[in-house]
Amino acid sequence: MTTEQSASGPILFNPFDPNFRSDPYPVYQRLREESPVHRSPLGFFVLTRYEDCASLLRDPRVSNDFTNSTAAMEEAAKQGIDLEQLASENTRPFLFMDPPDHTRLRSLVSKAFTPRVVEGLRPRAQQIVDRLLDAAVARGEIDVIADLAYPLPVTIISEMLGVPAEDHEVFQDWSQEMARSLDPDFVLPADVLERRQKAGDEFAEYFRALIAKRRLDLRDDLVSALIAAEDGGETLSENELLSTCILLLIAGHETTVNLIGNGMLALLRHPDQMARLRDDPSLIKTAVEELLRFDPPVQLTGRTAKEDIPLSDGVLPAGQQAIMLLGAANRDPRQFVEPDRLDLAREDNRHLAFGMGIHFCLGAPLARIEGQIAIGEMARRLGSPELMVAEPEYKENVTLRGLASLPVRFAAT
Ligand code: HEM
Repeated sequence: MTTEQSASGPILFNPFDPNFRSDPYPVYQRLREESPVHRSPLGFFVLTRYEDCASLLRDPRVSNDFTNSTAAMEEAAKQGIDLEQLASENTRPFLFMDPPDHTRLRSLVSKAFTPRVVEGLRPRAQQIVDRLLDAAVARGEIDVIADLAYPLPVTIISEMLGVPAEDHEVFQDWSQEMARSLDPDFVLPADVLERRQKAGDEFAEYFRALIAKRRLDLRDDLVSALIAAEDGGETLSENELLSTCILLLIAGHETTVNLIGNGMLALLRHPDQMARLRDDPSLIKTAVEELLRFDPPVQLTGRTAKEDIPLSDGVLPAGQQAIMLLGAANRDPRQFVEPDRLDLAREDNRHLAFGMGIHFCLGAPLARIEGQIAIGEMARRLGSPELMVAEPEYKENVTLRGLASLPVRFAAT
């Protein structure tokens, strides 16, 4: 595949192009206008319009189970992998399941992950942000990623699950390897796949031991709550408990960091909006929604059609996979007024950063609390903040869009 993406050249969705990584939005715009139901040479369809993405995410005729994808099954068969067997082992998280299994598991997990539990975490999140920012303010410099955006959600989700503090560091390494499990396999080189497999095995071993410990002695933590969760006599099996803990831990580690990082970068590049938030902290709720719309941490998700599905500009044939570019849908002028303008007070903002439909992000209330406190406090406490590099570097992930570091100089206030 060529990496050419010039204005006159062919429009391609090429997530490996470094220019694409630093600014995918011009490519998204061309796809949305010129080829909204785009057949990629990589064998899947790429959707960029809000209407198509939102309707497919809510369509009961799609599946999030890879065994329904003709391409995934053919590729696996070529490699001698028996995906049916893999699927039947049932170690996939419920994100990759369809009803009725998805419905049953999501409902059990929702019983442990209640709005009350999440709202109760606000004071702890504030305390962690205060401590991390005190240290940065004393230095006059901050790497937003390493010093705040990463440690905040990691500490919160690890504490929620009941992972002891001394194990948080080893979790970071495993989690970064595992975050690439959200990328399609074909984009990953062999060594990354191998490291991901190893991290997955180690993660599973760790949680198996933690679950066994909690079974003997239930505590006030999420692992214990998941063990105890029951619905009409149904409980989570051992494998379901394991895959759920790992899903929550990775989602808690690798997504909110990018909300805080991408959000701060957008504010640094729009000083008028940063000043607006500083002058009026009551804007923080709409501000975080706007930052999620403007540069979403999860850039894409996929679904497979179980039957032919008509779209705005063609049909998604049965057995074919569609990649929905959430970042493109969030900038669709058919849905958002002046979509390329960052407006922290934007009211009508039904963005797709957390998805839509039955798989809508279960952690959205937690991510929102963490994002509001972290971004709100940085806007308040970091006076005249300035980016210390012209072009901050992005991590290599395709599905998750986030910075490797974001160094900022400021005057303490
Ligand atoms: C800003 C941060 C976050 C973003 C942008 C985000 C985004 C998303 C998106 C787009 C989906 C839907 C994927 C699909 O439909 O294929 C999703 C699902 C999910 N998220 Fe998040 N997420 C975030 C934070 C979190 C956190 C903190 C947690 C939990 C600790 C979490 C847990 C989950 C779970 C369990 C699902 C699967 C729901 C289901 O399949 O029913 N997320 N997230």
